[in-house]
Amino acid sequence: MQDKKTFYITTPIYYPSADLHIGHTYCTVMADAMARFKRATGYDVRFLTGTDEHGQKIEKVAQENGVTPQEYVDDVVGRIKKLWDTMEISYDDFIRTTEDRHVKRVQEIFNKMYEKGDIYKGEYEGLYCTPCEAFWTEVQAVDGKCPDCGRPVEKAKEEAYFFRLSKYQDQLIELLENNPEFLQPEARRNEMLSFIRQGLDDLCISRSTFDWGIQVPVDPKHVIYVWLDALTNYITKIGYDADGNSSDLFKKNWPADLHLIGKDIIRFHTIYWPIFLMALDLPLPKQVFGHPWLLQGGDKMSKSKGNVIYADDMVDLFGVDATRYFVLHEMPFENDGVITWELVVERFNSDLANILGNLVNRTVSMSNKYFSGVVRSTGVTEEVDEDLKAVVTGARDRVAQKMKDLRVADAISEVFGVFRRCNKYIDETAPWVLAKDEAKSDRLAEVLYNLAESITVGASLLYSFLPETAEKIVAQLHTQLRGFEELNQFGLYENGTKVTGTPEILFARLDAKDVMPKVEAIREAQKKEFEAEQRALGEETPAEEKAEDVIDIEAKEEITYDDFMKLQFQVGEIISCEAVEKSKKLLCSQVRVGSEVKQIVSGIRKYYTPEEMVGKKVMVLVNLKPAKLAGVLSEGMLLCAEDAEGNLALMTPEKPMPAGAEIC
Ligand code: ME8
Ligand code: MG
Repeated sequence: MQDKKTFYITTPIYYPSADLHIGHTYCTVMADAMARFKRATGYDVRFLTGTDEHGQKIEKVAQENGVTPQEYVDDVVGRIKKLWDTMEISYDDFIRTTEDRHVKRVQEIFNKMYEKGDIYKGEYEGLYCTPCEAFWTEVQAVDGKCPDCGRPVEKAKEEAYFFRLSKYQDQLIELLENNPEFLQPEARRNEMLSFIRQGLDDLCISRSTFDWGIQVPVDPKHVIYVWLDALTNYITKIGYDADGNSSDLFKKNWPADLHLIGKDIIRFHTIYWPIFLMALDLPLPKQVFGHPWLLQGGDKMSKSKGNVIYADDMVDLFGVDATRYFVLHEMPFENDGVITWELVVERFNSDLANILGNLVNRTVSMSNKYFSGVVRSTGVTEEVDEDLKAVVTGARDRVAQKMKDLRVADAISEVFGVFRRCNKYIDETAPWVLAKDEAKSDRLAEVLYNLAESITVGASLLYSFLPETAEKIVAQLHTQLRGFEELNQFGLYENGTKVTGTPEILFARLDAKDVMPKVEAIREAQKKEFEAEQRALGEETPAEEKAEDVIDIEAKEEITYDDFMKLQFQVGEIISCEAVEKSKKLLCSQVRVGSEVKQIVSGIRKYYTPEEMVGKKVMVLVNLKPAKLAGVLSEGMLLCAEDAEGNLALMTPEKPMPAGAEIC
């Protein structure tokens, strides 16, 4: 017997620095759908996920929580595994980069590269983004901000080990040029190619400014850069051995067929990772898919905004499969997808409750009502049946093609196309009309048989995406899910099967009025938790990150237009700023307004650092009579918005405006 074809698929290994949100869940659920689909189509699948547990960020958050890094990650990883169980993730293995075996293997990999001369010791100077664990050059870190996450970077200098990326540059360009399939979506390939063609600097692959990492074997005061530690998970977990004794599992599964990752870490997976593999003389993964992001509204999710959506909360409100459905269906191939609670409710009702739930319910109920539950094929066909059958039997290959193209949202839409077609078929055949005419009983039976058969095929295709629902559907039809090879056939539903007498509602319609108060409670709880965390850390909630509320203030006396025209407002640019020595509250800014520079003192030290102020364009009341504040002359006022708690935010023009522009 010939061995089955293998398929090795991986997710990113997630940082257990905090609980994972729906964006992370999306990636894992998509990998799960792909893994299940490959299994269904006859592959011997290996599906790996896990956690990336080293690095400065973890060290820092553990310290803030008063526990060791290991204790911290153990706790979060426990919850991540529970989440994957809840979400029915069918992973075959879970790697934790703190595992002894991984640690040992990474050290061996380091040694192998070092002995080969690909790694050397030097000194590093650059701009470091702690949350992303990434070094950037001055050019990359525009305005001192991390190009990936937008947070400030810090200057860092240290003795370090370097990897000679440039040595493999040409080989990598060749790979990307000759394998258009390697990186998806294709637009990303050009970005990467132009990045590489600019010339690859040697990559710093060790750190000595923190301890939480795998020690460099030849120099234990250094730890190995997290990305070398992280990327190699894909080979260490299946038993790669740098000393030449790799396991059978490794031989069977490497190279990976697909690394599924988010768009923010494409560079790591299509530049560093292939080069590390070249250095180890290993074949490269066949494909990397950098999927888009799921945004809340149009915004990045952040705990401080109270807008993070967690899969657990969604599961509580909508169930596991509705959550899986939403993320799989709502995510385009290339552009970011949007999630809001309102949208989830809408999709739930339109797709799950109406198109699918109702269809199954009506079919089972009508079978019970008209034939005591017995589904019979009588052979009384009509022309309308042909199109139904064509749609149903063709769905398998359409779904397979979309999956091959990594277009999972389109694939699940194809599955729902089957259910939509069934609903149309009910309208076309109007079984309730047939039921009124005794002579049409056999035709009615055939219609219900065609529906039961079509739904069984649809449910079998649905299994990779919504496994629990698929099982529930066939349970109601008293049949089984079918193998992929049978899904292009029509008429395998066993004649004379009796369906359940008590159909279960698969998805009960939701009323937004019932759901939204629960969502509000989730948001409130999240905000409270965040504030409590901040208090525990002795930090104020930053003003700009407070959730928005409506506030009312006391009305002032009415003024005339002439009164208003007495006030002169202009755009000012802050060219320098320092704290006022004698005060805890005040900052003193030099503000350029037109060709003039004014000194303005403002009570905003709690909300802005002097460094943050510099470069801002602000709204200035220019003709305010000069006065001294804490002994310092102030020649105007910077305008701020103030919320109910007294948090301040500077008013800045909504589009770029020159300093001096009149505000009227
Ligand atoms: O980057 N929507 O880990 P991570 C979709 N440890 N995907 C999102 C997302 C969102 N809103 N937010 C994050 C790391 N992701 C490294 C990976 S792999 C060898 C090491 C995705 O926990 C993000 O794109 O920060 C990334 O692929 C994944 O979550 C893990 O992010
Ligand atoms: Mg990240």
